[in-house]
Amino acid sequence: MSAAEIGVGMWGYGFMGRTHANAYRQVRHLPGAHAARPRQLVIGGRDGEAARQAAATYGFARHASDWREIVADPEVQLFDNSAWHDVHEEPCIAAAQAGKHVLCEKPLALDADAGRRMLAAVERAGVQHMVAFNYRFAPAVRRARELIAAGQLGEVRRIHVCYFQDHQADASLPSPWGGRSQTGVLDGLGSHAIDLARFLVGEIESVTADIRTFIPERGAGAGSRERIAMTEDDAFSAQVAFSAGALGVLEAAWVYAGSKNALRFEVNGSEGSLSWNLEDLNHLHFNRVPSGSGDPGGTRSLLVTDRGDPYVGAWWPPGHVLGWEHLHANLVAAFVDAIATGEPVAPWGATFADGLRAIEVAEAIRRSAASGRRETVGPPSIGARS
Ligand SMILES: NC(=O)c1ccc[n+]([C@@H]2O[C@H](COP(=O)([O-])OP(=O)(O)OC[C@H]3O[C@@H](n4cnc5c(N)ncnc54)[C@H](O)[C@@H]3O)[C@@H](O)[C@H]2O)c1
Repeated sequence: MSAAEIGVGMWGYGFMGRTHANAYRQVRHLPGAHAARPRQLVIGGRDGEAARQAAATYGFARHASDWREIVADPEVQLFDNSAWHDVHEEPCIAAAQAGKHVLCEKPLALDADAGRRMLAAVERAGVQHMVAFNYRFAPAVRRARELIAAGQLGEVRRIHVCYFQDHQADASLPSPWGGRSQTGVLDGLGSHAIDLARFLVGEIESVTADIRTFIPERGAGAGSRERIAMTEDDAFSAQVAFSAGALGVLEAAWVYAGSKNALRFEVNGSEGSLSWNLEDLNHLHFNRVPSGSGDPGGTRSLLVTDRGDPYVGAWWPPGHVLGWEHLHANLVAAFVDAIATGEPVAPWGATFADGLRAIEVAEAIRRSAASGRRETVGPPSIGARS
């Protein structure tokens, strides 16, 4: 294998498997200024025939029906876990122990204890690690962080992040989990909201929160007359306090009709505000009102595809806009680069320490919803904020 290639083994061929496979393929064929190219070696999942078809469709050389085969493959340098949350811990730890660099979908794990074991394993093995918080890789989101860090908003006083979808809004729909217990929207969409808040504003110190299951019972499955209790949360709303003094509101739901993939944030500071909406992902709305200048400001809509904007060199000329799938491509390209160069994944990418921190915040949200009190998140357990 050429030194400029990183062998990829993926576990999971569902929605995220398809998304990551597309990302590796795009990065391989549009290499931009990257230090190395991914080589799609093997894709696997529980159903061997489906894995075989996935390999043929997505351009992998081989397929597997057991993640252990991928972890044992000497050509695999990057183990990509795109399977469901309850299949993250054991394969990721085994991959790290086998010396593979590990990319894992979010949420990192089912709970913080599992997240700590995963972080300890990758740190002990000395491998690169990343959690697929893909929204960090939207050019406008990265530009937002750069503007905040450069003091363009002055003192940051507030952030509101919400992530709303509506695919579970209709109470007549059967359980999407077919009776198999799953984690709810706090882990699914809320983890993105928590990570974006940390990426933009910093550590969260304490929370007060409410969690709802709006539809407590559903049909067991398509065509079934059986009714089952739904224990997964459908929505949450949390008021958070940041260590640096800012206030925040974080929300997620998949039962708010009319919201398809509405991930939005607004950040307000002493000298300006900015806002972003995934459904219009190339634009960042920025209103700078420098104090004492007498300038009344006015919101500018920045099309973040220009010379000097993040990721432009990897894609098209200015004004040639990007889509949702490009964020995943930017993410896998950054991870492949980090493996090839040894440069840190942080701060632009989320490490396992960030993945663990998102779980710790989610657990504080759950504790607060249960206790009705403000709950502290506690100091990061291992690894500094990246
Ligand atoms: N970053 C994002 O934008 C984003 C979007 C959607 C989902 N996700 C995350 O990606 C992960 C996968 O979600 P998805 O939507 O692709 O799900 P999916 O159901 O479409 O695919 C899940 C994959 O995991 C495998 N799998 C499930 N249970 C397994 C088990 N017990 N043993 C072995 N394999 C198993 C399935 O066979 C399948 O290949 C989840 O953790 C989810 O939170 C991330």
